[in-house]
Amino acid sequence: MEHGLEPKERLEHNRTAMKSVFGTVSESDQEKGLPMPQPFKVCGGKRVALTREFTNVIRKNDYLSLLRDRVSRRAYKDAPLSLPELAFLLWSAQGVKSVRSGLTFRVVPSGGARHPFELYLAVKNVTGLEKGVYHYLAGTHELELLRPVEDVEKQVVSVLNNQSFTSAAAVTLFFSAVPYRPEWRYVEAAGKLVPIDAGHAMQNLYLSAEAAGLGMCAIAAYNQSVADAFLGLDGTEEFTVYAATIGAL
Ligand SMILES: Cc1cc2nc3c(=O)[nH]c(=O)nc-3n(C[C@H](O)[C@H](O)[C@H](O)COP(=O)(O)O)c2cc1C
Repeated sequence: MEHGLEPKERLEHNRTAMKSVFGTVSESDQEKGLPMPQPFKVCGGKRVALTREFTNVIRKNDYLSLLRDRVSRRAYKDAPLSLPELAFLLWSAQGVKSVRSGLTFRVVPSGGARHPFELYLAVKNVTGLEKGVYHYLAGTHELELLRPVEDVEKQVVSVLNNQSFTSAAAVTLFFSAVPYRPEWRYVEAAGKLVPIDAGHAMQNLYLSAEAAGLGMCAIAAYNQSVADAFLGLDGTEEFTVYAATIGAL
């Protein structure tokens, strides 16, 4: 028995989490006057600047074709991604367009503009970047190096439940959630918002990868504790919720 619940109780718990509980939630920390949590995390690693000039990265911009042609791609060429290609994908997934009254407005929507995610990267093959684990600083559109990892592709496979195709990815993106960001306002209802928000970001990523002529695949079947340890997350205040492998075609 995992999570202290019997299988039937877990299913009931899961189904409840899919339903809306807005209107029946406890008093929020926002209503109690507690300060709004920061919308960004900064880890303090060595920074890498990213471009916001994406014109040269786009190979296909016919919207109907992008919608029709998008598929999950699991076979990647042994070729590097360029830094502008990576910058485009990161911006597509979480890029900040403006900040107003402490709220960030991004390329993707988020319930109440709470934006619960941080983005981490396992970089195997990106021109100009050493192999390792990085964090995307959405506020300044930069990368920060968390640690170099020589056998990063091997570690990615074990984080992603031994899905062997993932070792070919030039980059694997990880979405973590910081649940207090939505909980500060929505308390128990926040649990429904986080996975919905993740879907918006992933679809943006799919369409942008297609536009850039890159292949990608969303991944939910990862090992929770191994992923959290790999990214240096405590598993409670911040934990992995989604991943995506990306590579050249
Ligand atoms: C929430 C979610 C989780 C997924 N997890 C995995 C995964 O762990 N491994 C994998 O190979 N594909 C994964 N996929 C890709 C799906 O298998 C794929 O979207 C589905 O087969 C439909 O194919 P299409 O994306 O090409 O339309 C996931 C997709 C979604 C949306």
